[in-house]
Amino acid sequence: MTTATAEKPRTVKPPVVKEQPLFIGGKFVDSSANKTFPAINPATDETICQVAEADATDNDLAVKAARKALESGPWKKTDAADRGRMLYNLADLTEQHAEELAVLESYNCGKTITDARGDLQGVVRTLRYYAGWADKIEGRTVPVRGNFLSYTLRQPVGVVGQIIPWNFPLLMLAWKWGPALACGNTVVMKLAEQTPLTGMRMAELALEAGFPNGVVNVLNGYGETTGAAIVAHPGIDKIAFTGHFETAKIIQKSAANSLKRCTFELGGKSPNVIFADCDMEQAVAGAFHAIYFHGGQCCTAGSRLFVEDRIRKEFTQRLADKAKKRKLGDPLDATTEQGPQVSQEQMDKILGYVERGQKQGAKLLAGGKRHGAKGFFVEPTIFDDVKDDMAIATDEIFGPVVSVLPFKGIDEVIERANNTYYGLAAAIWTKDIDKAHTFAREVKAGTVWVNCYHVVDTTTPFGGFKMSGQGRENGEAVLEHYTELKTVTINLG
Ligand code: NAI
Ligand code: MG
Repeated sequence: MTTATAEKPRTVKPPVVKEQPLFIGGKFVDSSANKTFPAINPATDETICQVAEADATDNDLAVKAARKALESGPWKKTDAADRGRMLYNLADLTEQHAEELAVLESYNCGKTITDARGDLQGVVRTLRYYAGWADKIEGRTVPVRGNFLSYTLRQPVGVVGQIIPWNFPLLMLAWKWGPALACGNTVVMKLAEQTPLTGMRMAELALEAGFPNGVVNVLNGYGETTGAAIVAHPGIDKIAFTGHFETAKIIQKSAANSLKRCTFELGGKSPNVIFADCDMEQAVAGAFHAIYFHGGQCCTAGSRLFVEDRIRKEFTQRLADKAKKRKLGDPLDATTEQGPQVSQEQMDKILGYVERGQKQGAKLLAGGKRHGAKGFFVEPTIFDDVKDDMAIATDEIFGPVVSVLPFKGIDEVIERANNTYYGLAAAIWTKDIDKAHTFAREVKAGTVWVNCYHVVDTTTPFGGFKMSGQGRENGEAVLEHYTELKTVTINLG
């Protein structure tokens, strides 16, 4: 599918990509209606290849294959340790093909090759972590009244529908396949329509890793059609979704018809709080990374930057100087610091917010424009003098746009940080241990960082308060979402 690159030159060559099939029941197939849609290179707006578009019929075939694998195939008889071994195989194969996958990810998603290589390390680590869990998922014996023996079994939920976004295609795949397969479920996954390539390559590797036919099925297509078909299908037991909360609302309503279990990871408008007693150098670099990592296309992006008023001038000046120097360009060039946004739609959304910010009276300190005339690049943008109720301070922009919100004290900033319907992440920069722990306790967010940002590990629970999500991914916490707990009671006479 792509050319392998062993060494790491400054600029890698674009991969050669074939037309993309669907992966159903262990076979690569065309869509039943023979429909396709284009995969786009966001750095150039050119078509990479055509991709098979799954409809409800294809989804039905995938669900039947997944159900068969779950209930009568070899998967059902596979020992837990052997499920783990297959996941270890997949991790090894991913590691062997890491450079090839990183190039493909960068090419299709627009993330820099450096970031894509970093993601691949996370993918491998996640698969290994859950490989290790496969034979450690245990029930308990429970003391009960009377002469009975009661114990619990943790069993797979069943056929799991997994719908992922385009910002971290491979990492989101690993976060979802890892625990689902460790727990013995089977999977029907839909990749994001913007990034249909790397997940299909992972399907090939899953086959090579020894997963029986039907355990993993991978579909491509749009949300309103392919995604909706997965959610509505009565043969699917659970939905795991990452994306926008408006999409999650649609999913939850449709899933209600068969009371499917749902877990959601839904983004945020995360407060990043800078106190005057911070290490300024470290905090400027941290605030920069918090918002501009992957062009702001991160669910945890530090997009509400609260800066203590007495250092605001110096802090924002330093941030603006850095922003103006950031190197935008070809994501396959290892010296590039920021690639394009993923799509025209996302670029237009971001530029729309920039316009609203200016109209509502915020002060533009840096950026604000599209970069270049080709591809979907947006300049790193800073707004100062932002009021809490401006659209740029309330809405998830999902781009390289940060709102600076001045504050004076800890109580005030905690209240304002929590004044949002989101609650995914939050960070504080201070040398004062009292402030750090008070903030960590009081802020309503699933992840809190002290003097760091975007430190996400496969071993630590990840998810959101409020409208940032439901349930947790990563760590041990996710396992309860991929298992059903069964109580068995025996009469001992
Ligand atoms: P989205 O939520 O529409 O799409 C995410 C995934 O859900 C894609 O695979 C899509 O095809 C699927 N989907 C869309 N509508 C569906 C439906 N009715 N039923 C089932 N599946 C459906 O997000 P989109 O449109 O790509 O981006 C819009 C905004 O969402 C972004 O600007 C950003 O604010 C947010 N977002 C948050 C992400 C996160 O990491 N939490 C990731 C991607 C987007
Ligand atoms: Mg959408």
